[in-house]
Amino acid sequence: MKEYQIKSTIYEFDDLSECPEYVQLLIAKAKEAREKAYAPYSNFKVGTAILLANNEIVTGSNQENASYPSGLCAERTAIYYAGAKYPNVNIKTIAICAGPVGKENTKAVPPCGACRQAIAEYEQKQKTPIEVYFMGTKGKIKMVKALLELLPLSFDKGFLE
Ligand code: THU
Repeated sequence: MKEYQIKSTIYEFDDLSECPEYVQLLIAKAKEAREKAYAPYSNFKVGTAILLANNEIVTGSNQENASYPSGLCAERTAIYYAGAKYPNVNIKTIAICAGPVGKENTKAVPPCGACRQAIAEYEQKQKTPIEVYFMGTKGKIKMVKALLELLPLSFDKGFLE
């Protein structure tokens, strides 16, 4: 039997002021987007802002539904919009902020598994890494330099051939 180990590198910033300026702006946009979430069932709001290689910023928030599984996470709302509107423009950075309504959250909230899979698709398509910054509503910010750091051993189109 062989044993393989998988290593991921995650960076942590204590405070927004430690992040590069373009990230501070992107996080501000994610926070703004979070305000527009429609989350009457979970009362958990998520905002995402995506920086594209053409310097456009696309945002999204979670959108829920009375038929619960019909809702969509903020990350996929935003990335599918980016893919639909700018199909040939690379995605550079994604910023996510999340937390329950009515209180501050200091736990950095990473994208869920389904969103990781969706983001991984674009990373593979464009063949360049997508940085992901994620946080609560305040406090520490975590970052990976590529989505695959969060989704090792991912399923991709290579397996379909
Ligand atoms: N949610 C997101 O928007 N992104 C994630 O990565 C995790 C979960 C949303 C889905 C649902 O509207 C609410 O948060 C609670 O799960």
